[in-house]
Amino acid sequence: GKGNYPHFMLKEIYEQPGVIGDTLRSMWNPASGAIDLPPLDIDLAAISRITLVACGTSYLGAMVAKYWFEKVARIAADIDIASEFRYRDTPLEADGLAIFISQSGETIDTLAALRHAKEAGQKTIAIVNVPESTMAREADAVLPTLAGPEIGVASTKAFTCQLVLLACLVIATARARGAISGAEEARLSNAIAEVPSRAAEVLNGDEAIQALAAEVAEARDVLYIGRNTGYPIALEGALKLKEISYIHAEGYAAGELKHGPIALIDDTVPVIVVAPSDALFEKTFSNMQEVMARGGKVIFMSDAKGCAHIGKEAFATIELPHVHPFVAPILYAIPVQLLAYHVAVIKGTDVDQPRNLAKSVTVE
Ligand code: F6R
Repeated sequence: GKGNYPHFMLKEIYEQPGVIGDTLRSMWNPASGAIDLPPLDIDLAAISRITLVACGTSYLGAMVAKYWFEKVARIAADIDIASEFRYRDTPLEADGLAIFISQSGETIDTLAALRHAKEAGQKTIAIVNVPESTMAREADAVLPTLAGPEIGVASTKAFTCQLVLLACLVIATARARGAISGAEEARLSNAIAEVPSRAAEVLNGDEAIQALAAEVAEARDVLYIGRNTGYPIALEGALKLKEISYIHAEGYAAGELKHGPIALIDDTVPVIVVAPSDALFEKTFSNMQEVMARGGKVIFMSDAKGCAHIGKEAFATIELPHVHPFVAPILYAIPVQLLAYHVAVIKGTDVDQPRNLAKSVTVE
């Protein structure tokens, strides 16, 4: 049941510190303190290229992983939406690895894409939250997320568990390929180990996020912007908001604003800026200033350092704990979930069962 929560979605958002921890422990060797995947029967040192395929929120998990695989494991990684991948004639390399990400493990397009990749000679890994699902049975290897049953149609805890699992897979791949030093691996692993407690801190800030929801609920359109792994989180924020509150929302790479979408901005448009203090902070910051110069109502998500930088300029700030930039997307996923949730509650929509949507999309 929902326990003391008014909706499954809120319960599942609040379960994240626990289930992220469970997923992490399944990839962790307590004796050595190192990331240790279950045996995969796939030689991660021998793969030439990675293709990540999924739908919806799971696709945005794939997008975060693309940035990680490239930067940390120094391997080329392509991403694709399953319904596109399955009908495209992508040339796939003989030593390619294809990774399919799905909460349900049953999404028809992702399943068809998996079969397509197998026929094309790819090694396949399924990352699923339902271990007895069709994708889990058909892939060469399975990495289960331990999010527990997800009832709310909008994916929340399954997404952050996918991210933490993918982060571990990236580190294991980097190690197998000799792409990472022991010291760097230890830094990133420590950053991952902190995620459950940092996620709990993020949830402690829920009241401040809820206080902003009334403003967002008034809007007709909402923009989300971010760079690097903040870009898929911007897309995820927009997806969550539109599917449960029915407010039109778009996510953009912050650097793309001036190539069109900035024309939408006036003083009725909230712009959610995903801006952890990382190497690209200044770039995102200047995109935010461009938004403010046009009257846009900026809601700025950053850590104490980033928020101090902005002073009183923004309409509002959401302060998150400071974390290593590698794990920032996992933490920043949570406030965008909470914001969408509180806006939907104000709008009076059916949060757990949004109109026109199904939890598991088993038809094309
Ligand atoms: C959005 C959402 C959907 C799913 C998508 C894929 O909140 O839940 O976009 O992520 O339908 O579902 P799975 O992961 O089961 O393949």
